[in-house]
Amino acid sequence: MTNNVRPADMKRIDTPQLAQAFIDEQVKEIRAQVGDKKVLLALSGGVDSSVVAALLIKAVGKQLTCVHVNHGLMRKGESEQVIEVFRNQLDANLIYVDATDRFLDLLAGVDEPEKKRKIIGGEFIKVFDEEARKLEGIDFLAQGTIYPDILESDGVKAHHNVGGLPEDMQFELVEPVRLLFKDEVRVVGKALGLPVSMVERQPFPGPGLGVRCLGAITRDRLAALRESDAILREELAQAGLAEHIWQYFTVVPDFRSTGVRDGKRAFDWPVIIRCVNTVDAMSATVPELPWTVLQKITDRILTQVPGVCRVLYDLTPKPIGTIEWE
Ligand code: XMP
Repeated sequence: MTNNVRPADMKRIDTPQLAQAFIDEQVKEIRAQVGDKKVLLALSGGVDSSVVAALLIKAVGKQLTCVHVNHGLMRKGESEQVIEVFRNQLDANLIYVDATDRFLDLLAGVDEPEKKRKIIGGEFIKVFDEEARKLEGIDFLAQGTIYPDILESDGVKAHHNVGGLPEDMQFELVEPVRLLFKDEVRVVGKALGLPVSMVERQPFPGPGLGVRCLGAITRDRLAALRESDAILREELAQAGLAEHIWQYFTVVPDFRSTGVRDGKRAFDWPVIIRCVNTVDAMSATVPELPWTVLQKITDRILTQVPGVCRVLYDLTPKPIGTIEWE
């Protein structure tokens, strides 16, 4: 039985030295648990699964197989970063599955937000399950469960894409960061040498850009969403604001508005910028961004993203507006 209660005297991991001590201890524990058996991990590229992957690579190397499912709703460059860091730099066994068409075909015409989430979550498990069944002799499943998951939801990584694998897949769990809080996971990730952009990543929902491409997802609006989101991220980083904003992204609604481009009438999509600060995501405020930064972002989106003719800044606090639009 694994211990799921954080000892009262456990030190908060907030220095590289404490992170290193944690890593050394976990490497020993993982080796003791896994022996010479094989481990499987769904690697989304988020902080938790990335840190777990790096820990396992250190402990058992090629006994770990990571599966990265690209559901076509990742942000620009995200899947590429997973491949670069884990396959090229850390020499991991990484199976990359580009399931974009599968997801987008299933989602075509579906405009109800919860239905979209269900399709994305369900299909994710299906794809992961199919990949797992192709592999032989896997005994362990590694997961990026962190302490708030245990406190808030009976130990299930509730917001994780891999909520539940089919019952006939019997794996023993390996959950090396299950007693850590998010900030500690980040400190450990840095000590493991993961890129800062991966370790300091803002929260990103499991259904990804799917809940930001409003209504029924179309490939043209999804492309506009991905490009505008990348511009927003670049410009906030450039202005030194990225680390001061908890979550920031763009949204593309499923209605058009009129514009004028090259002397001709255009009827294109708006892009909405959403930036929030919060402690626990239960309530949130909207930061005041410098006008020059907003103007530069607007300018770039309007000139560089095809099919967009209007840019808006969402001033709505939570409550009453949720952070995501769907
Ligand atoms: P809301 O929109 O409820 O968001 O104010 C609060 C936080 O939760 C994230 N979020 C999700 N994360 N799957 C996830 O993994 C989801 O379906 C989902 N919906 C919202 C949101 O990005 C914010 O950080």
